[in-house]
Amino acid sequence: RTDLNIGLFGFGVVGQGLHAVLARTPGLRARIGRIAVKNRGKARSLPAEVFTYDKNDLLSDPGLTVIVELIDDADEAYLIVKEALLRGKAVVTANKKMLAEHLPELIEIQQTTGTPLLYESAACASLPVIRNLEEYYDTDLLESVEGIVNGSTNYILTAMHRDAQPYAAALARAQELGFAESDPALDVEGLDARNKLVLLLAHAFGAVVAPAELLAVGITSISELATAYAREQGLIIKLVAEARRLPGGGLAAAVLPTLVRPGHELAQVHDEFNGLITQSTFADRQFFLGRGAGAFPTASAVLSDLSALTYGYRYAYKKIHQNAHLVLAPDAAEVD
Ligand code: HSE
Repeated sequence: RTDLNIGLFGFGVVGQGLHAVLARTPGLRARIGRIAVKNRGKARSLPAEVFTYDKNDLLSDPGLTVIVELIDDADEAYLIVKEALLRGKAVVTANKKMLAEHLPELIEIQQTTGTPLLYESAACASLPVIRNLEEYYDTDLLESVEGIVNGSTNYILTAMHRDAQPYAAALARAQELGFAESDPALDVEGLDARNKLVLLLAHAFGAVVAPAELLAVGITSISELATAYAREQGLIIKLVAEARRLPGGGLAAAVLPTLVRPGHELAQVHDEFNGLITQSTFADRQFFLGRGAGAFPTASAVLSDLSALTYGYRYAYKKIHQNAHLVLAPDAAEVD
């Protein structure tokens, strides 16, 4: 096992969460060496000398062997991650938007340089889904993955359904609790869930698609009346992301608000929790449930990536070549 000296980008909800969980994980030989942040005016909980405002201080420091990227700006994150990989620094990132938008190029860089790029925290936060999909289902025939992959919208839908809370109040609370994106439109319009679905498609089925190719409908059009009506019918509305093999070949994938009956696994997924159901030929039906947003749950997945780096793990992307014929058409969720 190697010691990890981390160059951390961003010290927001997840960055601070990572600092706290690392302090409580003495068995993992990882330390934060330097932190790059943007906002000079902000009060920080760590000594000033740990921070820098120049990203090159981290990227060009040979002592920092791992870059952990936890910033908000997906375009800036892309430049940082790409540069770090090209310089041979292992990268751990939680930036699902950046990954979904640049996955083909980043996979190529990862495969040609052999530099690890891990992002377990980018889909379903604390739930160990990406490495599971990548590794566990390789020889099994995975038929579908479906689930609740955005914590904020699930928090809002739960509050509307269970507590009859108005939409706006529930959204404001999800923001206060640090679940929502800094631009919450990404959550409520289903775009964050769509970005996560891009990652699930790559690791479950080897299908690499651009986010814009996938149909996504969010929760902004779900009225309090609709939630109340569903409740009266004994049903609950959930925002469900799904990717499914079609019988004739090809895949269908979309993010859609869905009526869920009480006995269904996804009806148990409350507040900011996420839940993912896999259906595969031999393992049959499996259900993963856990916290899908927030500082510690997300940091726990970052921690798991750091731990994986210490034993040399990197995604193999084995299925991408096997399933290269699986391509989704730009204008439809269902294609041969
Ligand atoms: N805004 C995201 C969510 C954070 O609510 O799920 C975790 O990816």
